[in-house]
This record gives sequence, structure tokens and C-alpha cells, in this order.
Amino acid sequence: MQSERGRPLGSALSSNASQIALRMISQSVLSDEGELLGLLRQRVREAIAYRRRLVPADAEAYRLIFSEADGLPGLIVDRYRQILSLQTLTQAMDRADIKEVAIAELLEQFASEAVSSVVQRVDPRIRELEQLPPAPSRLLRGEETATVYAINGIRFHYDGLSGQKTGAFLDQRENYAAAQRYAHGSALDVFCYQGGFALHLARKCDSVTALDSSRPALEVAEQNEALNPGRPSIEWMEGNAFDFLKDSATAGREYDTIVLDPPAFAKSRRNLETALRGYKELNLRALRMLRRGGVLVTCSCSYHVSDADFLDMLRSAAADIHRNVRLLEHRGQAQDHPTVLGIPETHYLKCVICSV
Ligand SMILES: C[S@@+](CC[C@H](N)C(=O)[O-])C[C@H]1O[C@@H](n2cnc3c(N)ncnc32)[C@H](O)[C@@H]1O
Repeated sequence: MQSERGRPLGSALSSNASQIALRMISQSVLSDEGELLGLLRQRVREAIAYRRRLVPADAEAYRLIFSEADGLPGLIVDRYRQILSLQTLTQAMDRADIKEVAIAELLEQFASEAVSSVVQRVDPRIRELEQLPPAPSRLLRGEETATVYAINGIRFHYDGLSGQKTGAFLDQRENYAAAQRYAHGSALDVFCYQGGFALHLARKCDSVTALDSSRPALEVAEQNEALNPGRPSIEWMEGNAFDFLKDSATAGREYDTIVLDPPAFAKSRRNLETALRGYKELNLRALRMLRRGGVLVTCSCSYHVSDADFLDMLRSAAADIHRNVRLLEHRGQAQDHPTVLGIPETHYLKCVICSV
């Protein structure tokens, strides 16, 4: 890459299909492909060393490589105990030789920790956007595609060939523990997926209801509950969150703890207004159903909704129904999904915990 005056700016990975044509990989000019592959190996090692310093020993699942945040634009790798789950989001990272080098370095670094299998997770929409040929999620190395892993002392099933994201929402790991600290009484986990928040709430609450629209996610949630016996049994419900909250409010149901973790409503800047209306509707209904002293844990994973937008939405919802809301914690994604100053796209998750 060069400036208009011909001054070298550095090296970038290119895509002839994406709206993001160039993704910077180095501020130096790389002389050849060999140097690029060497740099990739080095970045993989640095990403692993960073996690070894800050991920607690009892976390058996965490993000190892987070794309631009680790200087590896377009590459995501999560560890689920002995299985690495890899996603390539760009033409460059999907190149066979680049993938091979990344996998070889990963397996070398984890040789002493019995990490032996690598699965590639495919998001068909992203492959289409990058004009990459369709491909199934599949085993690339080793023999295992499924395992059981623990985070915060709670056990979960992992199936590398099904589910959403790379299998779980690992970005919420630290927020699960934070939500558990404040949870009490009767709890409701809306958009529960495979039960990440619900299973943490069950450690502190007298009763937990958890709702999601995905039947396959709820089936795994029930299996996860069975892995962690000895807590109040969780009521798993299949349904639409908006309808459920409306009907529950009409029926006068109340809770002491409510978690809202919807999918990203703002997929682009263009639908920010509609997204904020959606968040406000959900939060209004939840605030109404909380008993005095109740705890709301409310999240947004839309990058286009800023922290300020999200807090404004919450303030406006609280004002509309005359609730006094105290901020307990204003959180983001877990530390293994680093936020890099200067790359705003690396900060996307908001998790606000408040007392109502
Ligand atoms: C961000 S994920 C939730 C992650 C979950 N809290 C966790 O920590 O694992 C959003 C979830 O919302 C569910 N979902 C999407 N639209 C929904 C709707 N209208 N009603 C209920 N659930 C919905 C999806 O199936 C998905 O499981």
C-alpha cells in the first residue's frame, strides 16, 4: 500500500468482493509471501501468550484469536477445551496456505495441553459476501467435533458442527459471573440460547425461567442443565421474546432479576433508529416487570449502537415509566475479546447491570 505521493503505508490483505477492500496487517512493507506467513505465525504466538496471561485457569473455553484485535484480520479462533474452532471471514484468511500455517502454529503451541482437533465453522452469509465458494462446517484436524467444557465452574456441551457463532457466546463469560453476583429471588433470562446466563442465575436464585425462539438451542440448554445438577430446576420456554414480555406484563408477572441479551438489532448504521426502538421496547417491558430492588442485566451486541446510545435508550425507558435506575456496572465483552484503541470495531458488546 502507498500514499498518493507514493510513500509506503504498509501491507494489507485484500478482497475483491468485500466493501472493506484492504485490511492492514503490517505498517511495514512485506517483501514476499514467506514474510507474510512468518508474520502470521508470530501473531498467532502473541495472541496465545496474551490469553495465557489473562484468562483464568478454570476457563476451558475462551477466544484465542479475535481478528483485527490480534493483528490477524478475518481470523477467529475459539478454544473449547481440546477443540479449536476456527472461522475465516475474508478471502485472504480462507486461503489454504494461510489457514495451514495458522493451524500448524496453533497445534504446535498447544501440543502439551492435549488440544488435538480443529473444526472450521462456516457462516454461509459471510462466504457469500466474500464471494467464497459454499463450504460446510467440518473437521480439519484430529477426530473430535464435540466435547464438554467448563467456564466459571459450570459445564456446557459443545458441538463444533452446530449452534450459533463458533458454538457459544464466549464474549459473555465475565458478564455471566457479574450477573450471578447480583442475581436474587425469581429470575428471567430472555434470549437464553443454550442457558449461559440462566445456569449462572440458578446458583443464586429461587426460580429461573429462560426463553428463546430456537428449539435446538433450548434442547442443548436442557442438556447443559443436566450436566450441573443440584440447583432449582430451570423452566425452559420456546417463544418470541416480544410476545412473551407483553403477555407477562399483561398477566402482572414480576421478577427480581431479568437478563436481556437479544441478537444484534442494528446490522448496519442505517437501521440504528429502528434498533434503538426495539431495545427500548424490550427494556421498558423488563423494567416494568421488576420488583422494587430488582436487578436488570441488559445487553446489546450491535457494534453500531454506541455505549452512549445504549445508556440513553435505557435512561429514556426508565424515565418513561418513572423508575429510578442505579448503575451497578457498565461492562463490555470478556478480556479475551480485546478492545483495541484506534480500532473502534473491536468494541461491540455492551452489558449494563442496574438496580431498579
Ligand atoms: C445473543 S444470543 C443470546 C446469547 C445467550 N444469552 C448466551 O449468553 O449464550 C440471542 C438469542 O436470541 C434468540 N432469538 C432471536 N430472536 C428471538 C426472538 N424474537 N425471541 C426469542 N429469542 C430470540 C436466538 O435464538 C439467540 O439464541
